[in-house]
Amino acid sequence: MSVQYTIRFAPSAPADGGLAIALQLSGDHAPSGHSVTDPAGVITRAAGIAGFSGKQMGVLDLLAPHQSPFDRVVVIGLGKADELTAYDWLRAGGKASSVVKRAETVTVFLDAPGTDITPEKAVDFATGLLLRAYAFDAYKTKKKDDEDKAAKSVTVTIVTAAHQAASERMVSAQAVADGVNLARELVNLPPNVLGPVEFAERAKALESLGVAVEILTETEMAKLGMGALLGVAQGSARPARMAIMQWNGGADGEAPLAFVGKGVVFDTGGISIKPAANMEDMKGDMGGAAAVTGLMHTLAARKAKVNAIGIIGLVENMPDGNAQRPGDIVTSMSGQTIEIINTDAEGRLVLADALWYTKERFKPRFMINLATLTGAILVALGNLQAGLFSNDDDLANSLIAAGEESGEKLWRMPLGKDYDKIIDSKFADMKNSGGRYAGSITAAQFLKRFVGETPWAHLDVAGTAMGSPLNEINQSWGSGYGVRLLDQLVRDRYEA
Ligand code: BES
Ligand code: MN
Ligand code: ZN
Repeated sequence: MSVQYTIRFAPSAPADGGLAIALQLSGDHAPSGHSVTDPAGVITRAAGIAGFSGKQMGVLDLLAPHQSPFDRVVVIGLGKADELTAYDWLRAGGKASSVVKRAETVTVFLDAPGTDITPEKAVDFATGLLLRAYAFDAYKTKKKDDEDKAAKSVTVTIVTAAHQAASERMVSAQAVADGVNLARELVNLPPNVLGPVEFAERAKALESLGVAVEILTETEMAKLGMGALLGVAQGSARPARMAIMQWNGGADGEAPLAFVGKGVVFDTGGISIKPAANMEDMKGDMGGAAAVTGLMHTLAARKAKVNAIGIIGLVENMPDGNAQRPGDIVTSMSGQTIEIINTDAEGRLVLADALWYTKERFKPRFMINLATLTGAILVALGNLQAGLFSNDDDLANSLIAAGEESGEKLWRMPLGKDYDKIIDSKFADMKNSGGRYAGSITAAQFLKRFVGETPWAHLDVAGTAMGSPLNEINQSWGSGYGVRLLDQLVRDRYEA
């Protein structure tokens, strides 16, 4: 069970005997709220004995401190004041969530001596609490002992002078956390439960937030000429879908921002079948589509002042008597023909039609696609940063900046004519695989052939969308990578 938090901001503490969480900068600083939590000076003394120095994510845990109105006081280290980013405040909130355990009432003293608590920081802290609380355990019928005793519903009072402005922004914290947690959930769900049709239904559910959602069926996609996407789907017993989500929070008639996602609900590789080891991870091959859906949730829930489109191509890649073969030539919606070399290079085929459709129908200000596209990006960058490919330096730099701020990092990779040549085909306009070398780059070159002159960025999230290292704000296999990054981009560059 994920913990349910009820979070409010207040100017002072209710001091009602539950858990108090204090924050402390490293160096010569007192913990926040110490005059309330530590009237007898025992916590300060304990910190000295334990050698607790406020080092980042360090924890000092005291039970029944003498004369304190609280049953338990936990001090969390923040590290050095001048180095704190937005992401650090998220991490502090996540760390706070991890110490709650059995407490049902929690008081957080946020105004740490030595640093100014802006409403933004307060809200980032709250978002961190909510992100850490997510767990995917709906399919665990037996709970562990300590899970049984853990509080299921926790009331958190965050004490800060910035309480009023922070309260007003709480809707936005909830919107971000819910968007990220939705993306995580979609990635974690097993592939028998979440097929293309079921995923499309989850996208359709965003209508309750005011998002306009259309679902294209195979017949409709065939009429549009989406031969690349449909070729991937033809080996599956489950029909393909495309979901088009529109949020119009900006000026009437203003060209939208477009986010496009690879939604391969399961990738066996098709006839070019993958080896058995770790194939179960390919339930997460819709991580790009999950991030786009989560982002659309966030933008709508916080009523972002922007026009945005989310488009996701939903297919299952299966081997079958009707599956596509290596050697097949398919015609994409753009009219360009593609020779299938490897049926496991399917994500780019789905995106080729999704990108072209997005560009033709919406004439967006930019297109950003997210895709668990290549194993090669894991070889290059591991699971710590996503690969960024772009035809537009401005867009690329904005994305890199949003990555630094949000902690969802990007590393720019090259594109170029010589790489593009590698995917020319003997028989068709292009082939869908350029082989092992520069695998992530040739995949990006493939996508580039379907974006025309539109400013475009491709994020290869094969390493970051799932199975990335667990941390203060994420304890789940599906990370929700991309939602906070793109929400940050929209806030910083397109709403201001
Ligand atoms: N979905 C995979 C990429 C992937 C690999 C995602 C590992 C997450 C973890 C993609 O469809 C794929 O199979 N790519 C091939 C391309 C190759 C056949 C040109 C790959 O990376 O090996
Ligand atoms: Mn594949
Ligand atoms: Zn794939």
